[in-house]
Amino acid sequence: MYKTLKPLIFSLSPETAHRLTLFALKHVPVVLLPRPQSNSPRLKVTLWGRSFPNPVGLAAGFDKNAESLNGLFRLGFGFIEAGTVTLKPQSGNPRPRVFRCPEHNAVINRMGFPNCGVVTFQDNLRKFLEKKPRPNGVLGLNIGMNKDQTEPSKDYVALVRLLAPMADYLTINISSPNTPGLRNLQEKEPLRELLSAVLAERKASCGDFQPPLLVKLAPDLTDTQIDDIASVLLDLKIDGVILSNTTLSRPENLPVAFREEKGGLSGAPLTDLSTSIIRRFYSATKGEIPIIGVGGIGSAKDAYTKIRAGASLIQIYSNLIFHGPSLPSMINTGLIDLLQQDGFSHISEAVGADHRTNTTKNDPGDTQENDGTAKLA
Ligand SMILES: Cc1cc2nc3c(=O)[nH]c(=O)nc-3n(C[C@H](O)[C@H](O)[C@H](O)COP(=O)(O)O)c2cc1C
Repeated sequence: MYKTLKPLIFSLSPETAHRLTLFALKHVPVVLLPRPQSNSPRLKVTLWGRSFPNPVGLAAGFDKNAESLNGLFRLGFGFIEAGTVTLKPQSGNPRPRVFRCPEHNAVINRMGFPNCGVVTFQDNLRKFLEKKPRPNGVLGLNIGMNKDQTEPSKDYVALVRLLAPMADYLTINISSPNTPGLRNLQEKEPLRELLSAVLAERKASCGDFQPPLLVKLAPDLTDTQIDDIASVLLDLKIDGVILSNTTLSRPENLPVAFREEKGGLSGAPLTDLSTSIIRRFYSATKGEIPIIGVGGIGSAKDAYTKIRAGASLIQIYSNLIFHGPSLPSMINTGLIDLLQQDGFSHISEAVGADHRTNTTKNDPGDTQENDGTAKLA
């Protein structure tokens, strides 16, 4: 079905195609959407006291305003991360700001967090949460700061206050390359300050029912930066990390016109870089902080590589554009075969398996010094 529609979808600009997809997922009655495959107990993940029916999630940025959640869950995702939402609405960067490169299954975006703001986001969430039965899956909310905010923690703290009570988990996004200064929050002291403020607010606004707090990081980090971040996150008992956001690096083999677009690169060219960051972070934390692996996943094998490198869950975005909405189901089916091949009876046994057997069979990143760009040079 997607093969037939793909030429039509690709004749539209990426953003128009995206808006149409969200519109369809919002308005087409869910019974008309393809029925996802049933979830295998071998893929069920229990983490942070949450039950993920399968490990395949939708990454942040796809449903920025939490407007199409029911339709998206219907595609078979085990979890969905809505956002990035900011406190005030903002229009983002001028268009065009999303670029596809189908020959390389790659995307560059410089959207700059366009979204309707937290008030509309909350309205949409309420509608989703009030409708019973709720789809079987976990809902993460991803928050970021407005472009004109000079004191980031003010935005993050306010967003935690407003959204923590509605979230199954919360993600602090400090890694989009399209908001000036945002990635500086990954530096040791600014990070400690920001996360301490956010943790205090989570406690104040949620009492005993605090959602897990995750931090989403860039793939363009040096080993020293990873070690610094790992020590802060362990110190503050942060619940999880998402590795990774888009990269500023550009592999030489991408077409020049595409490569020169400003913004974050995602899809296939990001696959190995994000896996090596996952591997490195898992080593630095001795597997103590659960990782959601994301970056270029377009097959069960890609997902499994990240799981063996240390990811407990995975997310997809760019490859949905190239492979279509059956991708989550395809990954789940393929994962069962890959577990079988390695003699694992449950997915939890595969998480970080490369570190235990010392077989870096899919990626040698664990043992190499990483300067944040080398893997793509
Ligand atoms: C068009 C587009 C918009 C995105 N917007 C966001 C966003 O708002 N917040 C965020 O945390 N990540 C955002 N991302 C990054 C993705 O969530 C993901 O981390 C990244 O694309 C790598 O995964 P992929 O290679 O499967 O796309 C965006 C990615 C794309 C392609």
